[in-house]
Amino acid sequence: MKRSHWMTVLLLGLMLPAVQSAWSADVVPANSVAKGSAVFHQTCISCHGANGKGMLPGMPDFNNPHGVLTLPETVLEQRITNGYHGGNPPPPIAMPPKGGNSSLTQTDIKNVIAYLRTTFQH
Ligand code: HEC
Repeated sequence: MKRSHWMTVLLLGLMLPAVQSAWSADVVPANSVAKGSAVFHQTCISCHGANGKGMLPGMPDFNNPHGVLTLPETVLEQRITNGYHGGNPPPPIAMPPKGGNSSLTQTDIKNVIAYLRTTFQH
């Protein structure tokens, strides 16, 4: 092989890690959605339902294009973390803090919000 070809191979080798890290930054959202899906199916599905419409009256329909998922990220994060009971009159049961699963981390909650948005808001 000519000397210049070796240089090309060497340069590509040096550049590859940078290219890979730029690429993995792009795939983080998909990854969060997959993790959020696991959280939803473990902790939230019993009340909110696989179709996001809510299992009992008073539970929000996540598919509503003007519904709760239009709230800012920080508000959703707080309400999922601390629980929520609003409305007038309020629904028969409240949203429990962390959906009743105290082991959820803030990352889990961000991931589940990503899952809700990509799954129910089209
Ligand atoms: C025990 C049943 C139950 C579980 C489990 C549950 N929720 Fe809820 N959730 C509710 C109810 C009821 C409401 C409506 C509360 C209200 O409007 O007062 C609600 C409301 C919400 C809202 C809208 C809050 C708002 O601002 O109106 C979001 C977002 C939400 N839940 C996300 C989740 C996520 C994510 C999980 C899983 C980590 C989860 N919920 C688990 C019952 C539940």
